[in-house]
Amino acid sequence: MSDQGSGYAAASEIRNRIDTTTPHSARFWNYFVGGKDNYEVDREIGDQIKEIFPGLVDVAVTSRHFLGRVVRHLVVEQGVRQFLDIGTGLPTADNTHDVAQRFAPDARIVYVDNDPLVLTHARALLTSTPEGRTAYLDSDLTDPDAILEAATATLDLSQPVALMILNTLGHFPDQERTRSLVARLMSGLPSGSYLTICDGTATSEGMIAASEAYNKSGAVPYHVRSVAEIEGLFGDLELLEPGIVRVTDWRPGADDAPFEGPAVDAYGGVGRKA
Ligand SMILES: C[S@@+](CC[C@H](N)C(=O)[O-])C[C@H]1O[C@@H](n2cnc3c(N)ncnc32)[C@H](O)[C@@H]1O
Repeated sequence: MSDQGSGYAAASEIRNRIDTTTPHSARFWNYFVGGKDNYEVDREIGDQIKEIFPGLVDVAVTSRHFLGRVVRHLVVEQGVRQFLDIGTGLPTADNTHDVAQRFAPDARIVYVDNDPLVLTHARALLTSTPEGRTAYLDSDLTDPDAILEAATATLDLSQPVALMILNTLGHFPDQERTRSLVARLMSGLPSGSYLTICDGTATSEGMIAASEAYNKSGAVPYHVRSVAEIEGLFGDLELLEPGIVRVTDWRPGADDAPFEGPAVDAYGGVGRKA
């Protein structure tokens, strides 16, 4: 079963919100994972950045693999059946519900993004199994209370939920504000819930140069954090092994092809609420 949640606007109104004159992170990222849902303006800055720092392609691709391994682990090993995925991005292969429902058909997933192009592609995120449920909210991470309230139409917030925020928190450069937004979301979820974050990190000159070039493009800027800053966003949650590590090093599975490229400038991890 699936629904498009509150905030689902008329098609013409959504089209009017799509700005093709400046790059947008959902579309830029879609270009980096090899998708077709992007515009010339996104590909132009994408090609410039591939020249400056080809390693950003590895960040985009390996963090999708990280998503797959985390969701599988949370469903199979930790018994999680509910996911809240904020900053979803454009649909691609193995979205959160694809992975979760492969292992637990009754899993429920709420997706949240504020980009109008993601909204127009939301149908692809709503291909739930009959036993499970998916929903899409056209909402903003700056309003955690509205997200939590709207999510209750699909999720039972008295049961554990895995909050997923991947490659999105760089849009929030202020560490204290970001920590407080994440903490507010987690405070609405019960004990036994999980938080997954991964993000590009300021761990190489190439990555820093790539983010500087992106931030000059007119797009909403993206701040690459230090590894310690990413860890700080987990507050007092108990980190699952192996902690905050390069995304390629987070529980690489036997069925994954080992990543053989240079060290990836993206770190992530999973925390559990006691
Ligand atoms: C770089 S993409 C990451 C997509 C996906 N999570 C992934 O890792 O492949 C960042 C996403 O965050 C979304 N986003 C940015 N600011 C947001 C906000 N304030 N509220 C909700 N979504 C936001 C963008 O529209 C985009 O889809």
